[in-house]
Amino acid sequence: MKAQKVSGMGERWENYRVANSKFPKVRIRELTRQLELTNPQNGETIAEVGTGNGYLTFALACKVGKNGRIITYDYQKSNLDFVNNHNKNGLPITTIHQNIDYDFELSNESVDKVSSIATLHHYDDRSNETGTNGREKAIKEFYRILKKEGKLIIGDVAQGTPSQRHFDSIDNPIDCAPLGHPHDFLTERLARELCSKAGFRNVKFKIEKVPWEFESEKQAQQFLHTIHNAKCSPQESFEHAKKTLEWWKEGNKFYLGWELFYLMAEK
Ligand SMILES: C[S@@+](CC[C@H](N)C(=O)[O-])C[C@H]1O[C@@H](n2cnc3c(N)ncnc32)[C@H](O)[C@@H]1O
Repeated sequence: MKAQKVSGMGERWENYRVANSKFPKVRIRELTRQLELTNPQNGETIAEVGTGNGYLTFALACKVGKNGRIITYDYQKSNLDFVNNHNKNGLPITTIHQNIDYDFELSNESVDKVSSIATLHHYDDRSNETGTNGREKAIKEFYRILKKEGKLIIGDVAQGTPSQRHFDSIDNPIDCAPLGHPHDFLTERLARELCSKAGFRNVKFKIEKVPWEFESEKQAQQFLHTIHNAKCSPQESFEHAKKTLEWWKEGNKFYLGWELFYLMAEK
């Protein structure tokens, strides 16, 4: 199935890229943890799903060297174009336009690792009642393309966390245009079940605090408003976020209480 063109989704993902490119340090803790767990090595081939602005892509590509490769998938062609246009140093990055049947066009046992951050929940859409079909298919494909003993590393929002409550609270076209945020999230039980069903072993799952970090309240307003492509004011986006996420100051920095699960599994 090809991704359906929905009016306004181009703008949604453009603003997602703008927020991450303009404020690259905000999500540094979630990125650092994803990198630590992925532990990219010189010469490895790593498939990444959910390119965005290349937030994880470029960091991985710097580590695998010229004998390695990052193969990154996204259903939004504009994200792939953005990464190709910004790959000025010729890092080993291949971009692939993904269909939403989640057939990853790679042969069996061809990658060392699959790494993905903040993306898996997008593979199902509760407004279309897809259940866990998209995520189940993708995880089976991750297993198929991984080499024997290859590793899967997923960082994403877990059911029952403040991050989940935040996303549910912006599931409307004002706080997150154009379609809200119609996605549900995995529990540990479900994540383990989907991995075991696909054949993975040694599944580890842990919810971790990876707060978003800001220089000022104004920066938090701008970041939240832009990353969600909100149609209210930046201040309203910020006030809204504080209803579900803890907000605090430490030293001269400000924090929003973001949490992700990190899942690791082996083929
Ligand atoms: C929240 S962003 C995360 C991007 C990047 N990994 C990051 O952490 O900044 C989710 C990504 O999934 C992609 N995406 C959204 N819906 C999708 C779908 N139905 N199928 C495949 N990819 C999708 C988006 O284009 C976007 O790049």
